[in-house]
Amino acid sequence: MARLILKGVTKRFGGLVAVDNFSAEFAPGEVCAVIGPNGSGKTTLLNVISGLYPPDAGEVRVDGERVDRLGPIKIAARGVVRTFQIPKVFKNMTVRENLLTVAAADHRTGSLRRVAGEVDQALAAVGLEALASSPARTLSGGQTMLLQLAQAFLHRPVKLVLLDEPFAGVSPAIKDLIFGLINRINRDHGATILLVSHEMSTVRALASRVLVMASGRLIADGPLDAVAADPAVIDAYLGQPL
Ligand SMILES: Nc1ncnc2c1ncn2[C@@H]1O[C@H](COP(=O)(O)OP(=O)(O)O)[C@@H](O)[C@H]1O
Ligand SMILES: [Mg+2]
Repeated sequence: MARLILKGVTKRFGGLVAVDNFSAEFAPGEVCAVIGPNGSGKTTLLNVISGLYPPDAGEVRVDGERVDRLGPIKIAARGVVRTFQIPKVFKNMTVRENLLTVAAADHRTGSLRRVAGEVDQALAAVGLEALASSPARTLSGGQTMLLQLAQAFLHRPVKLVLLDEPFAGVSPAIKDLIFGLINRINRDHGATILLVSHEMSTVRALASRVLVMASGRLIADGPLDAVAADPAVIDAYLGQPL
C-alpha cells in the first residue's frame, strides 16, 4: 500500500492557486525530491500534507487513512514529521529543553527519565551534545536545522518525513551531517522522505525520484536525468539548467 497518496490536492490563497490539482503516490521508504522555481508551491504542498492548511479540494492519505481534515497534531501523531524552512524552535530555551519539551508534550512517551535518555540519544545522533545547554538562539542556521532534525528523531512513529530546504544556507560540514541523517532516518524507520531542495548534487545523491512543480502544478515526475531533460521543466526554469 502507498505510504502517501495525494489526489487532486488544491490550495488557494484568494485568487492564487498555490497548489493546483496535485496527484501523486509515494511508497514506504521512497526518497523523493520536490523541486521547482521560487513560488511554485513546494512549501504550500508540505503545509497541506502536514495539516497546517486544509486543502480546498482533494485528498491526502497516509497508510490509506484520510488525514486532510485532521489538523497538524493528529497528523503528526500518525507519523508525519517535518522541518521548516524558517525554523520553529523555542529561541530562549536551551537545545536540550527544546527537545525535552517536544518529547514531554507527546503524552504517549513514558517516564521522564526515559524521555531524558531519548533526548540525549537524539542530541548525540545529530552531533549537538556539546551545545545541549546553549540557548537555541545562539545556534547557527545549520545547527538549528540539526535541532529540528533531532525533534524528528524523537518522534514515534516516523512514517513520512517532510524536509523544506534543509541544506539552504548551511555550512558544508553540517550539510554532510544532514545528508547522513536523512539516509539514516530513511533506513532505520523505513520512512518515506519528501525533500524540497535546490541542491541538485544532493538531490541526485539522495532521491531516486524527482517531482517538479511549476505554478502549483506537478509538471514532471521521474528520475532526475529524465525530468531535467523534459522540455516543460526546462521551460519552467526559463531555459536555465536545474
Ligand atoms: N500564507 C500565504 N498566504 C498567501 N499566499 C501565500 C501563502 N503562502 C504561500 N503563498 C503564495 O503561494 C505561492 C506558493 O508559495 P510557496 O508554497 O511558498 O512556494 P515555494 O515554496 O515553491 O517557493 C506563492 O505565490 C506564495 O506567494
Ligand atoms: Mg518554499
